[in-house]
Amino acid sequence: MNTRQDMILSPSLLSSDFSRLADELAALEAAGLKWVHWDVMDGAFVPNITFGAPVIKACRKKSGLFFDVHLMIDNPGRYVGEFARAGADLICVHAEAETHLERTVSLIRTCGAKAAVALNPHTPLDVVEYLLPQLDMVLVMSVNPGFGGQSFIPFSTDKVRRLKSMIDACGSAALIQVDGGVSLANTRELVQAGADVLVSGSAFFGAPPLDERLRLFQAAARGEDVGS
Ligand code: DX5
Ligand code: ZN
Repeated sequence: MNTRQDMILSPSLLSSDFSRLADELAALEAAGLKWVHWDVMDGAFVPNITFGAPVIKACRKKSGLFFDVHLMIDNPGRYVGEFARAGADLICVHAEAETHLERTVSLIRTCGAKAAVALNPHTPLDVVEYLLPQLDMVLVMSVNPGFGGQSFIPFSTDKVRRLKSMIDACGSAALIQVDGGVSLANTRELVQAGADVLVSGSAFFGAPPLDERLRLFQAAARGEDVGS
């Protein structure tokens, strides 16, 4: 996992060409990406349906990227084992979707994956307070989940800042991921607030070439002027 030294960009496949997933993964790897973000949606927890564990399993054989799997599904504990066996390196479940969250986080770790919890925009940070010591990452949703291309919710930056204080206060090693409406324009403020991993779908895939896009995001994270 990241040692907090540099921003990790995790492109969301939701904005990729679903008809060429293996090619898209190869292109990300060739462009220098290390992580890729899988937005799994069930049409119940969110009003959209994307892909499941079989698709991830099929792609696992074709990619060396770190599979950052974001489960936007009801009762995700039912599927943790299947996604871990499919090759997820990290499994992120929504606090709002799981009655017994601590049990599901423990299950993710037992299955050998890194464990993360996602918080919708309205969800207060104290929901994860007691779990921070056992989390590898907390995902701060900066849009309401379900779709790419939405506008960044501005209070997300302060939420990241306050989460960073909570993590530091308890000595947790949990990374902070921000997901939704991330762009070159808000990358610097999010990194300065404490974000370690940024998810980008439309702002990343929408402006190829991918290697140049990655370079721009990394430059923006360092505070260099890159336009928007
Ligand atoms: C939304 C997903 C996000 C989304 C990001 O429910 O969790 O990962 O795909 O896409 P952009 O960067 O376009 O907001
Ligand atoms: Zn996501």
